[in-house]
Amino acid sequence: MERTFIMVKPDGVQRNLIGEIVQRFEQKGYKLVGGKLMSISKELAEEHYGEHKDKPFFGELVSFITSGPVFAMVWEGEGVILTARQMMGATNPQEAAPGTIRGDYGVQVGMNVIHGSDSEESAKREIGLFFKEDELIDYNKTI
Ligand code: CMP
Repeated sequence: MERTFIMVKPDGVQRNLIGEIVQRFEQKGYKLVGGKLMSISKELAEEHYGEHKDKPFFGELVSFITSGPVFAMVWEGEGVILTARQMMGATNPQEAAPGTIRGDYGVQVGMNVIHGSDSEESAKREIGLFFKEDELIDYNKTI
């Protein structure tokens, strides 16, 4: 089953939006298979955002994502990678449609509340960066 990596960023955690965000994905019908409140090291931040390392905002991005705890999650379900991105809305919250997470809760592109994998390949990579296999639940497995 398809899986994606979703992270409530430090601004979302500080603004008590974890519950609201989890609720949206639960109510949509996706399954939470992993989740943890954690601090991101500079090394992990630089690796996670490696594709942006040459962008002018890279330093700002790394310092923001390491500025406070994040809530990292793995969600599972049919079409979850693309649908989660639609639920999050455009990267720039000022362009995100009302009703989307960023459209409802964000204003600035840097502090845009939430991150979600943009492809199957990045989902696999990001899940592997943040979670060990035994931290993820297989609901089909009996104990
Ligand atoms: P995210 O989906 O986490 O992936 C890369 C992040 O870079 C993006 O969300 C934005 O928060 C951030 N970003 C994109 N453009 C800018 C910018 N111009 N200034 C600061 N941060 C940016």
